[in-house]
Amino acid sequence: MPQQQRPVGVIGVGYVGLVTAVCLAHLGHEVVCLDVDEAKIDDLRRGRIPIYEPGLAELMADAGERLAFTTSYDELCDRCRVLFVAVDTPPSPSGDADLSRVERVVREIGGRGGDRLLVMKSTVPVGTGDRVMAELEAMGVEGIGYCSNPEFLREGAAVDDVLRPDRIVIGEYDQHDGDTVSELWSGIETEVVRTSVATAEMIKYASNAFLATKISFINEIANVCEHVGADVRTVAVGMGLDHRIGPSFLQAGIGYGGSCFPKDVQALKQLAGNSGYHFQLLNAVIEVNHLQKRRVVAKLQERVGRLRGKRVALLGLTFKPNTDDLREAASIVLAARLRAEGAKVTAFDPMVPPGSRPDLFPGVKLVTSALDAVDGADAVILVTEWPEFGQLDWRAVRDRMRGHHVIDGRNYLDGAAVAAAGFSYDGIGTTGDTLGGETPLVAGERS
Ligand SMILES: NC(=O)c1ccc[n+]([C@@H]2O[C@H](COP(=O)([O-])OP(=O)(O)OC[C@H]3O[C@@H](n4cnc5c(N)ncnc54)[C@H](O)[C@@H]3O)[C@@H](O)[C@H]2O)c1
Repeated sequence: MPQQQRPVGVIGVGYVGLVTAVCLAHLGHEVVCLDVDEAKIDDLRRGRIPIYEPGLAELMADAGERLAFTTSYDELCDRCRVLFVAVDTPPSPSGDADLSRVERVVREIGGRGGDRLLVMKSTVPVGTGDRVMAELEAMGVEGIGYCSNPEFLREGAAVDDVLRPDRIVIGEYDQHDGDTVSELWSGIETEVVRTSVATAEMIKYASNAFLATKISFINEIANVCEHVGADVRTVAVGMGLDHRIGPSFLQAGIGYGGSCFPKDVQALKQLAGNSGYHFQLLNAVIEVNHLQKRRVVAKLQERVGRLRGKRVALLGLTFKPNTDDLREAASIVLAARLRAEGAKVTAFDPMVPPGSRPDLFPGVKLVTSALDAVDGADAVILVTEWPEFGQLDWRAVRDRMRGHHVIDGRNYLDGAAVAAAGFSYDGIGTTGDTLGGETPLVAGERS
């Protein structure tokens, strides 16, 4: 196992930074993690993990003393030469990526001088590396190198994605710096793409934009399927068997969400626009995704009429299963639209306890089980395909409800079983019927 002489630093220990740090420690490196959030560092020092990510707790426990946590940039810079940057880069009101946290890190590190290598894991617009180097030069700092090492992990499978990635991308100004990053990951067997910093930055944006395009594409196909009587699930399987297309990200639903796709697609669109290019396709991808969330409300209205006074149960709130992340989750738009139409909304998500996040779900009653959520409801909408919703006893659900409508926003349920329990079932681009007696066909993963 490769051993760095000095510990590796990780700045910003959220979903990406913490998983990166734990995986680096798993590969045998000593890692010092820094975050400005004192409560988070305090929790981590006590072994409390602030996010939910399968497998992370076990690896963190195994890493033991190889992981250290601090809020002190002085301590970090004393101990580490190589510094991964994994701070958040949220969207700004203009749609451009907000790089203020990255800039703050550069000021902190630049202000301490020394021989260092910054490795950018955060998703940043093309040109950020050049800007960071220019900023350091303007500060009169010498000896700080820079590499781009974008992260492609999926929340919910993050540990596996970091330890068994499809590829590692390293963008470098200096070959020696690229070698250093490559050596840090040498415990991982995969393709390594070595390239310029700008190209590495673009690979990340282009990858996310392509995946988002695939999702919006299959969602539009699903919408057409509803008009022509085709079943999008089988369309997706039939398409995905073509190796030029592949099965992943062809699962129709109520649109993509999360902390990455919406902001990265928007940021690439802005980046293109700022450079004088109108990226038309991305406009459509974004608009289709917005509309897809709203279409569910129209579909419900077709079934139950006016929503005023109707009770609607949401199953799942997180933007996908196996995470506690609610950033840009479809549930937020859906709950707000339902409330605006006068519906009473009750929701259950295994990761969102009652009383939490009134900022995101004002007026929504959060409960502790799916059956409590459906109690007295006129309709149920499955928003997040948590595995436990696949095990629901739909006859028991029917007994608890006032109405009998199910909208499966992820085409996750066995539509025939739901219908057999006395429900009207609507999927997205599918009636949910089993096909020729087969169990429903499911295409590959989604974001
Ligand atoms: N979450 C994902 O699935 C994912 C996947 C790939 C890439 N990314 C990218 O990785 C980056 C991080 O995303 P995330 O989801 O982990 O974000 P996050 O919000 O979960 O974590 C960011 C962390 O950085 C800390 N931070 C902010 N400013 C800081 C500073 N100046 N110094 C030290 N710490 C600071 C925050 O306190 C927070 O703990 C983003 O650019 C994102 O686009 C995210």
